[in-house]
Amino acid sequence: MKSFATAYERIGTESAFAVGPEIAGWINQGYDIVRLNIGEPGCNITDVSTAAAIASFKRHETHYTPSTGAESLRKEIAGYLSATRLVKYDANDIVVTPGGKPVIAGTIFILVNPGEEVIYQTPGYPIYESMVNYVGARAIPIQLKEEKGFRFDIKDLKRLVSKKTKLLILNSPSNPTGGVLERSDLEEIANLAKKYDFYVLTDEIYSRLAFAKDLRVVKFKGNKLPVTDSIATQSGMIQRTVILDGFSKTYAMTGLRLGYAASKIPKFMDKFLTFAINFWSSVPQPCMAAAEAALGEDQSETQKEIRLYQEKRDMMVPALNRIEGIRCHNPKGSFYLFPNVSGVCKKLKLKDAEDLRRYLLTYDKRNKKGVAVLARKHFGKRLPSEKEEYIRISFAGSLASLKEGVRRIKEAVEG
Ligand SMILES: Cc1ncc(COP(=O)(O)O)c(C=O)c1O
Repeated sequence: MKSFATAYERIGTESAFAVGPEIAGWINQGYDIVRLNIGEPGCNITDVSTAAAIASFKRHETHYTPSTGAESLRKEIAGYLSATRLVKYDANDIVVTPGGKPVIAGTIFILVNPGEEVIYQTPGYPIYESMVNYVGARAIPIQLKEEKGFRFDIKDLKRLVSKKTKLLILNSPSNPTGGVLERSDLEEIANLAKKYDFYVLTDEIYSRLAFAKDLRVVKFKGNKLPVTDSIATQSGMIQRTVILDGFSKTYAMTGLRLGYAASKIPKFMDKFLTFAINFWSSVPQPCMAAAEAALGEDQSETQKEIRLYQEKRDMMVPALNRIEGIRCHNPKGSFYLFPNVSGVCKKLKLKDAEDLRRYLLTYDKRNKKGVAVLARKHFGKRLPSEKEEYIRISFAGSLASLKEGVRRIKEAVEG
């Protein structure tokens, strides 16, 4: 038989999804496993969103919808973006997508030619690298540094950018590290983007899940929302920037698959609409109704959940730091911890974080108990200069499961 397409050989994956069946396999064998591996909010969608989705079903809104996304939702998103990014977005600047993920492929397909350079963060969400490789562009990793709170060094960016740079991909707060870029970083990045004439894809899916004391607090429909800074706010950047955001994380809608692309790059959204038509035609109306309700007058329930994430982080970080061989930074955003486990690997004579992940999963064979986390290898290419080992722990789940998870990690490491 003839071989498959060569371009597809270059595509990567989100290998974190493969851990799910692995865990299920052990559970089927009677194991009790605390799951700290997935980026899945521990709460459910609000009653207001549920009621809106049900009402939509009852109106039989189960047909094709506009490929842009419903006009009323796009207007709400535009209002939300204008409030949170402090620059004016209109409904026409937005296309609603099935989850935030397709914004990555769409942006790269539209902007990047084979051979052009795209800079992306490592460790990072693996789909950026995958899509850049797929289109035959050059994927250039920039290191997020533990000693900088998992920000990258602007000096490194200055070394990596050139006239060949077409796109820079930012993710702040970041998955998997929880690192947040500072306003001064964004100013310098904006200056470089203008100087070298590159675009920026900014993945801001965790922009509301942020805990720094110095966050900007914006007003949205009478609510006061702390948000991280966006590159789109920087002068002259709105016309070079694509924002990826969505409802999965902030509004606990991972399964409803609702995200969006927003951009004022001239003609970009027309092309993005063509991308939408080619790939998914339209998204379900009941899901859009739930999302529209989520952006309603009352944000208090969502803000309560976000404050709870902060409490969970404040419980987890010191508890992990008390375990021999673990060094855990205090993330300023997201619901992920990215502790340095080099000391543990050494103590337990394990090759790397992946070996540690496998060990933790079933560490107590007698009582059939374990704890699921992800390893460094799930988050993109490693530069030769990166010597340390890390695991990713999600603190999105219930407080009880987090306490038990960290207790098990301690038991597994210290005996
Ligand atoms: C950084 C980042 N971007 C995008 C996504 C995709 O989100 P969605 O589930 O809305 O497609 C995720 C999901 O984990 C993520 O962590």
